[in-house]
Amino acid sequence: ASLQPYNTFGIDAKATLLAEFTSVEELRELLQNPEVQALPKLILGGGSNVLFTQNVEATVLLNRIKGITQTPEPDEKHVLVTSGSGETWHELVLYTLENDLGGIENLSLIPGTVGAAPLQNIGAYGVELKDTFVSLEALEMATGNVVTFNKEQCGFGYRESVFKKEAKGQYIVTSVTLRLTKEHTFNTSYGAIQDTLAQQQVRDLSLRAISEAVCHIRRSKLPDPTQIGNAGSFFKNPEIAQSMFEMLRAQYPGIPGYPVSPETVKVPAGWLIEQCGWKGKVLGNHGVHKDQALVLVNYGGAAGNDVKALAYEIINSVEEKFGITLTPEVNII
Ligand code: EPU
Repeated sequence: ASLQPYNTFGIDAKATLLAEFTSVEELRELLQNPEVQALPKLILGGGSNVLFTQNVEATVLLNRIKGITQTPEPDEKHVLVTSGSGETWHELVLYTLENDLGGIENLSLIPGTVGAAPLQNIGAYGVELKDTFVSLEALEMATGNVVTFNKEQCGFGYRESVFKKEAKGQYIVTSVTLRLTKEHTFNTSYGAIQDTLAQQQVRDLSLRAISEAVCHIRRSKLPDPTQIGNAGSFFKNPEIAQSMFEMLRAQYPGIPGYPVSPETVKVPAGWLIEQCGWKGKVLGNHGVHKDQALVLVNYGGAAGNDVKALAYEIINSVEEKFGITLTPEVNII
């Protein structure tokens, strides 16, 4: 079966077997199927953070577990929202807007599913999933048991969690619970949000106003995966030592950086890549997005290996010019 419809990069890789599940019971049944058992397993949600570079000799399981429920918290100021992991992330954001629940409006329009969100602790415009995250349930593949992970057990970091490290490949997230506000504090720390709100002459802040500002910014910078194949930021923003940042700034006075600790600074990879001349580069059917150098694109028909080769050329040139090694944020399979 072709995986092309199931990855936002639009790469035409084949899977040995492809199956969907809409509930934990269906998932358990699938995992007991001898054909499925004979092969390695790969779980796909929205397929918005993968680059396939070869056919997938595995059973690809498409997560379609739906349903969103809410429970009021005793303090009457918060609500716990539990979502099936196969819900589209942005659908969950829309649900919270409709129900006037605050906390994930800055994460509007992030592609992918709810179940994939904790794996890389999705983040944008000053907010990360971990800020509202309470717990998740996941099926342990070895036993078929459903287990709960609280926030601490998830080991969240910048685009990181235990599910990309120690627990990699062992669990399938089935639901995610967030703690959202009924009385809101709006996060407008990100400059672009303030600029957009000012431009649109928004006077009364609301969850919707923030969400709309974020959607506006994303649409203006990031390619729509239904139009141009891509997986968002291809690389993580590197953290470098403050001392190294000072050295680089002496040579490149315009270098942007955000302190993450007294000793370290996060540098936008998009800036580094742009400085190396890659922004807007077109190499036949793939290239670097014209408005955001952090995003690699498939204009149609690119092979995963072409995109991967480009990624490694970019890594090498950034390394040569700045002495900084970029790491991919996308899962290269
Ligand atoms: N920049 C450039 N040239 C570029 C792109 C960026 O010079 O081509 C510089 C500019 O100085 C700009 C700065 O980088 O001010 C930051 O750019 P932007 O606000 O677009 O954010 P980013 O650091 O490139 C990160 C996340 C995005 C997230 C945005 C907004 C990572 C890897 N990426 O991008 O997440 O939406 O911040 O918070 O942390 C994703 O993970 O797929 C993703 C899109």
